[in-house]
Amino acid sequence: MTASSIGVAVIGAGMAGRAHAAGYRAAPTLYRPELPEIRLVAVCDVDGAAASGTAKRFGYQRGETDWRAVAAAPDIDSVSVVVANRLHREIVEGLLAAGKHVLCEKPLAPSIADAEAMVAAAGRSTATAAVGFTFRRSPAIAAIKQQVERGAIGRPVHFNGHYWCDYGCDPRGPISWRYKGGPGSGALSDIGSHLLDAAEFVCGPIRSIRGATLATVVGERPVPLGAVVGHAAAAAVSDEREPVENEDLVTFTAGFASGATGTFSASRVAFGLPNALGFELFAERGAATFDLARAGEFGFADGGPDGAVNGYRQVLIGPAHPNFAGGMAMDFPGCNYGQNDLFVFQARAFLEQVAGLDHLPPCPPFEEGLHNLRLIKAVVRSAENGGEVPVG
Ligand SMILES: NC(=O)c1ccc[n+]([C@@H]2O[C@H](COP(=O)([O-])OP(=O)(O)OC[C@H]3O[C@@H](n4cnc5c(N)ncnc54)[C@H](O)[C@@H]3O)[C@@H](O)[C@H]2O)c1
Repeated sequence: MTASSIGVAVIGAGMAGRAHAAGYRAAPTLYRPELPEIRLVAVCDVDGAAASGTAKRFGYQRGETDWRAVAAAPDIDSVSVVVANRLHREIVEGLLAAGKHVLCEKPLAPSIADAEAMVAAAGRSTATAAVGFTFRRSPAIAAIKQQVERGAIGRPVHFNGHYWCDYGCDPRGPISWRYKGGPGSGALSDIGSHLLDAAEFVCGPIRSIRGATLATVVGERPVPLGAVVGHAAAAAVSDEREPVENEDLVTFTAGFASGATGTFSASRVAFGLPNALGFELFAERGAATFDLARAGEFGFADGGPDGAVNGYRQVLIGPAHPNFAGGMAMDFPGCNYGQNDLFVFQARAFLEQVAGLDHLPPCPPFEEGLHNLRLIKAVVRSAENGGEVPVG
């Protein structure tokens, strides 16, 4: 059923919260059919200045400092939860109990028990509950998936993926929630969760993990003098130091249900690479590559043409590819999009779900966030055991 208007709030005014706030702002301008009126109601953050400042900058009506006020607000229908992972469950459960539609950031929760409780809470609610695997909105990644599903390159044989960042390289960078929690809650949950989801999005389900290694390179970090937002490597710090509790990097292999093999690495200490997600997919009769630094294209190789000019070709994203036509003001090849646009596409898809429209593929339900967490835990168990660990 289509609501006459949808009131939106974002909880968390940090790095990704601002991307959500911007996403809802632009979402009604995209695609067809038109959405109901979208009211940008509130940005909530425990840091009051961040809440009111972000609300003002992004055109929301007010700032809030307690998520409970968002849950209780009659003018809010739909909420993004964009805070530290350990806070997701309490806030999501409270919002769902209050009848709000919820888009929760990845990873869904820090533990399987929390994620299972969130799945159960979503099951008790008639509201929409979805998890934000933003890279599913990438036109290039979705285009590669489309080619795999059409059988254009045959059965996948080998997916080799990385998500490499450098935000943890500088040991003077402050401690934050990203460095707290046990094994698996570091680079694996923060960025490896995206990589695992993208791999399954393209190649289908992963059945087992083996050969995992977790490594912590920077063992302790200084305590910041003020609020820390995002990766915050440049924040002012004190002389006090706290231990880093989780991994800076992880590598592992995986077996897909299709029989394909996966090789993966995720790192927050990849010097010189601020945000490098990429993969190579080799299949029986072709191959595809993706590099986030060149988000508006992908590499593709198949059986033709013959001879001296055969090989990988650069495919520019255009209206023939998923999510792109109508998703950009100028939607022709060469007018690139970037990661920020993926949050806009995601916000649009979520609002369509809330409005009862089905133009775009829906945002994944909590069950898929729980599954992603089971993969993460399997990687951790593989690292502990040194052997193959079935998922589940
Ligand atoms: N999809 C993506 O590409 C992507 C990118 C970055 C982060 N994320 C996810 O988004 C979430 C937030 O990450 P971030 O980098 O924006 O974190 P951040 O540290 O930059 O921001 C978190 C914000 O939450 C606020 N906060 C803390 N406790 C709160 C509470 N109880 N109520 C309201 N606000 C509170 C903090 O003051 C801070 O402003 C995480 O789950 C992360 O994994 C997703």
